[in-house]
Amino acid sequence: MQSFSFKCPTEIIFGRGAEEQIAEKIRAYGGSRVFIVYGGGSAIRSGLLPRIENQLTAAGLAMEVRGGVKPNPRVSWVRGAIDDARAFAADFVLAVGGGSVIDSAKGVAHGLANPGTDIWDFWSGKEKLTVTTPLAAVVTMAAAGSEMSDSSVLTNEETGAKSGLNSELNRPALAFLNPELTYTLPKKQLACGIADILMHTLERYFTSIKEMNELTDLFAEALMKNLIAQSRIALQDQTNYDAMSEILWTAGVSHCGLTELGRCKDFACHKLGHPLSGRFDVPHGASLTAVWGSWAEYVWQDDPERFAKFAERVWGITEGTTEQRARSGIEATVNYFREMEMPTNFTELGIGIQGKESLDALADMVTARGTKTVANFHPLDKQAALDIYNLANK
Ligand code: NZQ
Ligand code: ZN
Repeated sequence: MQSFSFKCPTEIIFGRGAEEQIAEKIRAYGGSRVFIVYGGGSAIRSGLLPRIENQLTAAGLAMEVRGGVKPNPRVSWVRGAIDDARAFAADFVLAVGGGSVIDSAKGVAHGLANPGTDIWDFWSGKEKLTVTTPLAAVVTMAAAGSEMSDSSVLTNEETGAKSGLNSELNRPALAFLNPELTYTLPKKQLACGIADILMHTLERYFTSIKEMNELTDLFAEALMKNLIAQSRIALQDQTNYDAMSEILWTAGVSHCGLTELGRCKDFACHKLGHPLSGRFDVPHGASLTAVWGSWAEYVWQDDPERFAKFAERVWGITEGTTEQRARSGIEATVNYFREMEMPTNFTELGIGIQGKESLDALADMVTARGTKTVANFHPLDKQAALDIYNLANK
C-alpha cells in the first residue's frame, strides 16, 4: 500500500426528510445569508425548492435564489451568479440539484471568496485556490458524487474545454441525501448516474500501482457488486427506497477518494469522455460508457491478471485461463451497460461516426495538443487517445 493522507470533512445527513434540517445546519455552520443555486426546474416541479425557501424564511435566514444551471455547466453562468451572490452579500451557498448544480455552486462559493480573480483562472490552473465560502448540497440525483468530492467540473464555452478543478476546498461542508428526492429522475438519467458511480470506482481499480492493497480492492469490489445488484432493482422500480438509498450513498462514497486509498486514480475514460460531453453536450455518464469497452480492449493486455481479478470478484467469472477471464469480465461489463440501455460506441451515444479531423481535435483536447500524457494504468498520449476513439467510432 502506498502512503496517503485522507480527509473528507463533509457532514452527511441521510434519510427521509433529511432536507428538513437545512436551516438549523446552515446556522450551525455560521450561515445567515444563503445563495441558492438550482438547475433547469426539476427542483421547482417536485416542490423541493419552495419547501426549502419556506423553511429558510421561517428560520429567519435571508436568501437569494438563482436557477438555470444546465447539464455540463458553463463558466459564464457561474460568473453571472457570482456577481449576484456578491451583490446580495451571501455568506453561504446552497446547491439544490445534481452534479452540474453542485459544481456550479462550488464555482460561486470560490468566486465569492476571491473578488478580483476570474473564476476560470482556478480551473485553468493559472491561479491556486486557497479560500472559499461554506457550501451545502441537497442532492437530487445519484451520480457525480460532487456532494463529497474534491472536484468541480465546468465547461468554458468560449474554448469548448471541459475541465475539472481538484482542491480540498471543493468538499462541501454539508450534504443532505434523501433518496426520495431522486424518485423523479428520468430513467435515462438514473442509468447515466449509475454508470458514472460505477466508473468512479472502476477508474480507481485499474491503476499503475501494483503494490498489495487488499482492503481497498475488497472495498471497491463490494461497492461495484452491490451497485450492479441494486441498479437492477432500481431500474425496474425507481421508488424502491432500499435500492435508491444504496445507490445514493454509493454515489458519494465512490467519488470521495475511499476507493483509491493506497494507490492513485487513473481516470482515463473521464479524460476521454470530457471532450465528448464538452463538445457534443451528451450526458457525462453516457460519454464514459461509450468509450469504456474500447479503452479496456486497448489496455487489458498491460495487466491481464488485474482484469481477471475484476472478472472473478465482481462478475463471478472463475472459468478459463487468466486471459479468457480478463476478456469475459470486459464483455460482462459492456453487456451490463447495454442492459441499462447505455451507449457503448459513438453511434449509440448519438454523435454518429466521426471524421478524422474531429477525432484529431478530440485527442488534442485530451492531451493538450499532444503535449502531455494522461492516466497511468496505460498512459495515454495523443496517438493512444486517437486509437481508443477509433475503436469507439462505430
Ligand atoms: O436541471 P434540472 O432541471 O434539475 O434537471 C436535471 C438535469 O437535466 C435532472 N435532474 C436532476 N435531479 C433530478 C432531475 N430530474 C428530475 N428529478 C430529479 N430529482 O437531471 C439532469 C442531469 O443533471 P446533472 O446535474 O447534469 O447530472 P449529474 O449529477 O450526472 O452531473 C453531471 C455533471 O457532473 C460532472 C459531469 O462532468 C457533469 O458536468 N462531474 C462532476 C464530478 C465532481 N464534481 O466530482 C465528478 C464526475 O466525474 C463528473 O465529471
Ligand atoms: Zn464521473
